[in-house]
Amino acid sequence: GLPQRVTVYEVGPRDGLQNESAVIPVEVKAEFVARLAAAGHRVIEATSFVHPKWVPQLADAAELLTSMERVPGVRYPVLVPNERGLDRALEHGVTEIAIFGSATETFAAKNLNRTLDSQFEMFAPVVARALEHGLKVRAYVSMCFGDPWEGPTPIAQVVETGRRLLDLGCYELSLGDTIGVGTPGHVSALIEAFGGPDRLAVHFHDTYGQALANTLAALRAGVSVVDASTGGIGGCPYAESATGNLATEDLVWMLHGLGVETGLNLDALVETSTWLAARLGRPSPSRVVQALSPR
Ligand code: HMG
Ligand code: MG
Repeated sequence: GLPQRVTVYEVGPRDGLQNESAVIPVEVKAEFVARLAAAGHRVIEATSFVHPKWVPQLADAAELLTSMERVPGVRYPVLVPNERGLDRALEHGVTEIAIFGSATETFAAKNLNRTLDSQFEMFAPVVARALEHGLKVRAYVSMCFGDPWEGPTPIAQVVETGRRLLDLGCYELSLGDTIGVGTPGHVSALIEAFGGPDRLAVHFHDTYGQALANTLAALRAGVSVVDASTGGIGGCPYAESATGNLATEDLVWMLHGLGVETGLNLDALVETSTWLAARLGRPSPSRVVQALSPR
């Protein structure tokens, strides 16, 4: 069967905006986050404390966290790669962070300037100190299905990397299909190789149009936390072939159709995507947003 309720982990302000060429003023980002909370989101990944030269789009992380409204009961995790990032997050009252590992050697080098093995030396003190401060720590593992340079990623390598990240003390591991090459059978096989859905979330990019089908496979395997991005924006600047994330609206349309609860108001989500698209200067790639937008 399917889970009765799914937690949609919204990554639009982070994964979505990290890859936009338009410069988005910090006030617009704060309004975006506020609109997401008003639409019913309870987890909104707000920004990243990465090196500002690596991701200039999110260089205003401190200003955003200082200026944005925080709704009680809503979680606002931020991405943190290293201790410098953790220091910055702690200075700004962050209570949840996410580290982001790579399942492949090449992407570890390109995204983190580390080897597959040495990424753990960077993350271990981050997680240890974050837990000491009472923070919740999520982990991502990227390139779970394939990598633009190495081809398909061996399942055993994903499981080993993912376990090592979880074993640092993370409450959840989000399986990232960074370049969207996964297909549903591969998703089921990967979750099974982890020994089931315990502590797993999924993070699909929709490059090959497989994100919804992959999500359904994950739900059937028992996963109940699904990452998605407003209007389907997003991508990773260090993986050229990555396009947008699974659109939150497409996900919610499917989940509500299946009778799965999300707590989200689809009309408010569509309105937010239409509002954001006007600020980004391009239409939302989400089919549901296109279908439900006034024309
Ligand atoms: P590095 O160059 O190895 O860093 O980069 P370093 O430790 O050698 O430090 C060099 C300098 O940078 C130092 O300054 C540090 O203080 C500074 P100096 O002493 O020379 O003046 N520095 C920082 N400044 C501010 N904030 C920081 C920070 N860290 C160092 N946090 C590093 C290593 C990890 C920092 C770099 O590679 C980086 O920032 N990478 C992030 C790339 C990124 O954000 N990618 C996108 C997110 S991942 C993603 O999208 C995938 C996901 O969605 C899942 C999926 O789809 O699969 C999550
Ligand atoms: Mg991503």
